[in-house]
Amino acid sequence: MSETRTALVTGASRGLGAALALRLAAAGWHTVTCARDPQALAARAADGAAQGLRLHPVPADVTDEEAVTRLFDRIAQEAPPLGLCVNNAGGNYAHTLVGRRSPAPGAGGVDLRPHPLDAWRRTIDLCLTGTFLVGRGAAGAMLRAGTDGVIVNISSTVSRGAYAQSAYTAAKAGVEALTRTWAVELGDAGIRVLAVSPGVIDGDALRSRTAASPRHAAYMAAMLEQVPLRRWCTEDDVADAVLLAATNRAMTGTILEVDGGGIPARVVV
Ligand SMILES: NC(=O)c1ccc[n+]([C@@H]2O[C@H](COP(=O)([O-])OP(=O)(O)OC[C@H]3O[C@@H](n4cnc5c(N)ncnc54)[C@H](OP(=O)(O)O)[C@@H]3O)[C@@H](O)[C@H]2O)c1
Repeated sequence: MSETRTALVTGASRGLGAALALRLAAAGWHTVTCARDPQALAARAADGAAQGLRLHPVPADVTDEEAVTRLFDRIAQEAPPLGLCVNNAGGNYAHTLVGRRSPAPGAGGVDLRPHPLDAWRRTIDLCLTGTFLVGRGAAGAMLRAGTDGVIVNISSTVSRGAYAQSAYTAAKAGVEALTRTWAVELGDAGIRVLAVSPGVIDGDALRSRTAASPRHAAYMAAMLEQVPLRRWCTEDDVADAVLLAATNRAMTGTILEVDGGGIPARVVV
């Protein structure tokens, strides 16, 4: 690639996005990293530099239409033509639709906790609207430049539905629908659109949550027992799929599942 084309990775200040950015830089892309926190982005760029890899941070909030416009303006002015956009920024606030708790001793009735609307809106905004805004910006940049290109949306295998995940599963199902829709709309311009759909990623977030909560550790161990390959995916496994999506010229509208064969929608421990 010799840095002749730009790859943009959103949500690249930690976790999967940071790992994807390093793999793309190592594969020769001029890699622009985006997240809200400029210091975390700069720290990841320093990590890359320590490995001989260059990352180019541009802080932006993917839910803010004007910020996304400024992000693509900067790429157009400062970077080689956009060839790959990885829509990775995402987050999850777990709630059941209507939580049911045992009432306090002596109190009657059922203690109901409805899914908070703000958690629904925050998740849809980040995972779905953010993907829409950045995907729209990336397609516009490629069409304006008259180049081919690839958009990879990071989904999740819980897009089919999962316990306590109303907003996240709905958002990720929407991300997969956008992927197929954009593939149909943009194929004639040589722009391919795919989703990579990881199962649980064995990364820092999982390790710190299981270390902090024995209950969560037991839940995850019970879930792993039902995964056909009995392993979670790693950030490297997901990066392999992103690189496949970026390079296989016959694939578009494809959802690449990287999940050890499937994770269960509900586990009872
Ligand atoms: N971890 C898993 O097990 C797993 C499994 C399946 C799918 N996924 C998907 O993989 C992707 C990455 O997950 P992760 O676990 O690596 O997430 P993470 O560790 O929580 O990192 C999220 C990244 O997104 C950025 N971000 C959050 N809000 C943003 C906003 N409004 N604008 C721009 N950037 C924003 C964060 O940086 P700032 O806070 O600085 O903005 C951070 O860099 C997500 O799409 C997630 O749904 C993860």
